[in-house]
Amino acid sequence: MKVLGIDIGGTGIKGAPVDVATGRLTAPRYRLLTPRPAKPKPVAEVVAEVAAHFCWRGPLGITLPSVVKDGVVMTAANIDRSWIGTDARALFAETAGLRATVLNDADAAGIAEMTFGAGKGRRGVVVLLTLGTGIGSAVFLDGKLLPNTEIGHLEVKGKDAEERASDRARREKKWKWKEWSKHVEDYLEHVEALLWPDLFIIGGGVSKKHEKFLPRIRTRTPVVPAKTLNEAGIVGAALAARAEVPRRKR
Ligand code: BGC
Repeated sequence: MKVLGIDIGGTGIKGAPVDVATGRLTAPRYRLLTPRPAKPKPVAEVVAEVAAHFCWRGPLGITLPSVVKDGVVMTAANIDRSWIGTDARALFAETAGLRATVLNDADAAGIAEMTFGAGKGRRGVVVLLTLGTGIGSAVFLDGKLLPNTEIGHLEVKGKDAEERASDRARREKKWKWKEWSKHVEDYLEHVEALLWPDLFIIGGGVSKKHEKFLPRIRTRTPVVPAKTLNEAGIVGAALAARAEVPRRKR
């Protein structure tokens, strides 16, 4: 079964059809720039363009960098604030004629990692953290997601964790890997004290360079890089949408 996954980020909106049995993209990824400001209607129009590129009529999953409850956006840390309170599911239906499953971007990445990546077959408490513009989180117990955890915004040493442990902080503050990895370690220790995970999975673009910072991190909990990387959001969105398709239609 093929499902279209679309990942909405601060700079790009990218999508691809996904074979949900293997997690592979069945066509090259299509990416358009996120409109600025990234308000709901213009973003939905770009989402429609991505779906049209694949002539898509089937099931569809869409991620947003926000808490999403029952299709409604509740927070907007790194996107336009006008998303707060928007019924994203209704918006995509009205603007694009698309019936979509909408979920948090890190939750989607976590679903992909637990199904096809570093978390495959892992029981116990697994915490996936995406270190990017913001910090996204996905928490699993025995493979089942606790959605919208938002532990990227924990306060560590008096500041929102994103201000020191995100990849954006590393780049903006021009920190060396050694310096930044200490901030990531402080943050992971904080999460450990709260959740006592069995495994941390680090995702986000920076996890491609994991050998530069993960070996420096000393936590009680093992820390591994994500495997699905760039495509995690797209694949996870597709898997989440598949889970909502009534069984008889599969
Ligand atoms: C948002 C999360 C999102 C993460 C990664 C955070 O700022 O609050 O909802 O998952 O960024 O995009």
